[in-house]
Amino acid sequence: MSATPFDQREGSIWFDGALIPWKDATLHVLSHGLHYASCVFEGERAYGGEIFKTREHSERLLQSAKLLDFEIPFTAEEIDAAKALVVRTNGKADAYVRPVAWRGSEMMGVSAQHNKIHLAIASWEWPSYFDPEARRKGIRLDMAEFRRPDPATIPCKAKASGLYMICTISKHKAERKGYADALMLDWRGHVAECTGANIFFVKDGALHTPTPDCFLDGITRRTVIALAKRRGIAINERTILPEELATFSECFICGTAAEVTPVGEIGEYTFTPAAITQALAEDYTREVQPKAKAAA
Ligand SMILES: Cc1ncc(COP(=O)(O)O)c(C=O)c1O
Repeated sequence: MSATPFDQREGSIWFDGALIPWKDATLHVLSHGLHYASCVFEGERAYGGEIFKTREHSERLLQSAKLLDFEIPFTAEEIDAAKALVVRTNGKADAYVRPVAWRGSEMMGVSAQHNKIHLAIASWEWPSYFDPEARRKGIRLDMAEFRRPDPATIPCKAKASGLYMICTISKHKAERKGYADALMLDWRGHVAECTGANIFFVKDGALHTPTPDCFLDGITRRTVIALAKRRGIAINERTILPEELATFSECFICGTAAEVTPVGEIGEYTFTPAAITQALAEDYTREVQPKAKAAA
């Protein structure tokens, strides 16, 4: 991965309806999105030039904005076309794609009834979310101090920038202690998810994953569940208590950026990446390729 700062890279960014040079895609410091987190985004990956589940991501982006009480002035079709154009123009067939929508500068206060809604889309190379060597052995997770909040306190189904504040704090603390990421519990103390990915466990040949009632039901998570069903693997979506971690043999996390990443440790608990994690990681790799279908 290049160390060039993101504002100094080459390429094109789609900004409010047209492609512009990468370095010109700037916004004013008095933007509502920056001060009050009125900002939603997506993380997507293109494989072989095609964005995996592009429509689902565009629809989630539109829905996230609605949950923050704003309307993105583009349709899902227009957003899909713009994302495809960005990937084509930037010339990388395998790329991470980042649409982001935010309230502009017309009003600067909690109320933002008349602010313009902006949408930008960038793409860049992002081969592996975790260090490839750590990934092979299974990444190490810390236990986060912050918990996923009660859905009565936040729009928990929005992929909203404000909801990532506690994720960045948790990931930083984990990284400082030598871990790759952190597992977050929810406000009730149940196992929830990582700072940017959902989590699965394996016990006696079956999958166990927390019910997504206060965090993102990831597009990758749903894909993995479909792939597991195709293989006839039983899936238990349920409440998982932290003390149960000792009873699972395998663990992996999944998300657009993380794809399917084996986990070797969560705090004091250890897991051995084995057949089910490997099979689902391979199925996922096949599934995301354009027009390829994973083997049953
Ligand atoms: C907090 C969080 N949970 C879960 C996910 C997984 O979502 P998806 O599979 O749609 O990328 C992500 C990644 O976007 C995330 O940031």
